[in-house]
Amino acid sequence: MIEDEILRLLKEDPSAFVSGGEVSRLLKLSRTAIWKRVRNLRTLGYVIEALPRMGYRLIQSPDLLLPSEIDPLLRTEWMGKKVHYFNSVDSTNSTAYQLALDGAKEGEVVIGESQEKGRGRLGRQWVSPPFLNLYLSVVLRPKIPPYQASLITFMAAVATAETIERHSGLTPSIKWPNDLLLREKKVAGLLNEIHSETDRIHFIILGMGVNLNMDAKEFPKDIRTQATSLKAEKGRAVSRKAFAALLLEELERWYEIFLKEGGTPVLKAWRDRAQIQGKEVRVTSFDEVRIGRAVDVDSDGALILETRGGERKRIVAGDVEYTNKMSNVKEQSSKKF
Ligand code: BTN
Repeated sequence: MIEDEILRLLKEDPSAFVSGGEVSRLLKLSRTAIWKRVRNLRTLGYVIEALPRMGYRLIQSPDLLLPSEIDPLLRTEWMGKKVHYFNSVDSTNSTAYQLALDGAKEGEVVIGESQEKGRGRLGRQWVSPPFLNLYLSVVLRPKIPPYQASLITFMAAVATAETIERHSGLTPSIKWPNDLLLREKKVAGLLNEIHSETDRIHFIILGMGVNLNMDAKEFPKDIRTQATSLKAEKGRAVSRKAFAALLLEELERWYEIFLKEGGTPVLKAWRDRAQIQGKEVRVTSFDEVRIGRAVDVDSDGALILETRGGERKRIVAGDVEYTNKMSNVKEQSSKKF
């Protein structure tokens, strides 16, 4: 993206002017073409000074998720070193999936400032307005059997929870399988998609949606009581680019822990945050509703439910609603979130 290249040049020495001729020579575009791109950057909120015979100087940057904004904050070895950035995209997961089919490497990331068809779990829509939140998908190529893929989801839930905590000081909890809650309202969700053979994973797309700077009134009415954002919880806006960089750092860290040590540390961290054991729950799985007591999650991430009749069931997919007084989470909308 040319605009991103221009920003990189302007950021090399933020106090200096870069001449139009120099930018045009380095990017192999006419001065007029560069001028038009600078104009685009200004409409995005960049304050760029332009002086005759001096050139361009970057005065102020908005909180966008362009690679040139995230890169300087990124402290990873390999995760997120290549970011595919879109102003608007159907779904970052669908885009990352296609890129992975075309050979994208492990750690490549897709970020959209907005999604036109943001997807949630179980065929739901993910509300994705522009410039407010984070919609990010990562390509992973773990050498693990497909039955362990759900542990990657647990790993991502832990990494996202730790990012929220490090970035905001707030302590999120995890609701099975991978909703992140603050004061019992959903602040983030994960959608992981797998491409595999029977015994080999080709790739996993790890999709994360985190509500960062949406105001409570900006959520659609039907999910307003069940959804929140970091801004709504903290009472002030957070830096989206700093959050994105931190999330990539936590993902790299937890993914490497998982590859080296297996699922045990991931499940331990997940259980500490989920505190699901013993809770009375109503579980909807493939249109079937079961009520009982959550016993634990097993080593593959399935929920173990003890029904009222004392029978133990293993639930691999579905939605959980807490039903005891300790926790009064409202039923998840089945349409929008
Ligand atoms: C859920 O809780 O239902 C999962 C929501 C996942 C949303 C994210 S936003 C980035 C990525 N792209 C998508 O279309 N979905 C995921």
